[in-house]
Amino acid sequence: MIKDILDKIDVLRDSVLSSIRDGCNLKDIDDVRIKNLGKKGELTRVLKQMGNLSEEERPVVGAKANEAREMLEEAITERVSELKLRECELNIKKETIDVTLPGKRFTGGKSHPMSIVLNDLKEIFRSMGYTVVNGPEIEETRFVFDMLNTPAGHPARDEGDTFYVSDDVVLRTQTSSVQIRTMLEEKPPIAIISPGRVYRRDEVDATHSPVFHQCEALVVDKNITFADLKGTLETFMKRLYGDSVRLRFRPHHFPYTEPSAEVDLSCFKCNGVGCPFCKGEGWIEMLGAGVVHPVVLQNCGIDPEIYSGFAFGIGLERITMMRYEIDDMRLLYENDIRFLRQF
Ligand code: DAH
Repeated sequence: MIKDILDKIDVLRDSVLSSIRDGCNLKDIDDVRIKNLGKKGELTRVLKQMGNLSEEERPVVGAKANEAREMLEEAITERVSELKLRECELNIKKETIDVTLPGKRFTGGKSHPMSIVLNDLKEIFRSMGYTVVNGPEIEETRFVFDMLNTPAGHPARDEGDTFYVSDDVVLRTQTSSVQIRTMLEEKPPIAIISPGRVYRRDEVDATHSPVFHQCEALVVDKNITFADLKGTLETFMKRLYGDSVRLRFRPHHFPYTEPSAEVDLSCFKCNGVGCPFCKGEGWIEMLGAGVVHPVVLQNCGIDPEIYSGFAFGIGLERITMMRYEIDDMRLLYENDIRFLRQF
């Protein structure tokens, strides 16, 4: 009887040993282990037959079983590390890098022409002592209109021209709102520019877009006059476009400046003679400007008897198109790489 069980243990051990040796992946080995050494495995099943043995015989079978178990566990550990090593080697082989293959060319990005122009513009104004400030694109009507001396009923506030978010919040139609925000926060002397996006209900065409960019400028101090505005614009334009450029101030009306002007630049292509680029005019309209209206200063708690200022707002698309002779504004937004590569 005992011999029978001992033999069974030997047979089981040998057959499990060979399954371990034959197992060719970790899953196989685990299956073998569970099937034979697990709680409900083959070895346990053999040991259950010990019931019929005598007191002296049982420890003999127990010792034999333990010996077999230890041997098998050792074999499993060994085989598992063998298999792991093999897997690792295979992976290394699979992942070999062929250093002789040609590399992937890294194509560096470039600045968008509008960014190039904006950076130049900021640099020019910083060198003249201006600070660059930002303002929100979703803006209160009092900053876009009311405090800029543009009361309810003014055509600029028309729903046909402006995107209303609610009765008193709009997508700003001009960066001029930043003038008010600045004057409410700071007291003179003030010298800021504020570039950013503005929104109008316009259809897209070669010279219009419902989203475009402006740069606002505001200077407030004692004894600021229209002459300061002219000198500043002249310096700015000459640094941007070269010394031969000339400026022309045309009387205009803006509610927040008095006097107000529209400012034209001599066409850099024909130098004022008239050509297709300037539609025969010789001049190209660039910006709106003026001396800050006393009511606007007053609205912001600045005494117009003591202080005065000038302001202007310029379209960044316009400056960019002029500089690079781009005749369709849509090119600036389409992000066609063949176009952008040229700058
Ligand atoms: N806000 C005007 C526009 O969008 C431009 C402008 C004109 C800005 C006169 C100014 C200014 O600061 O003084 O067309």
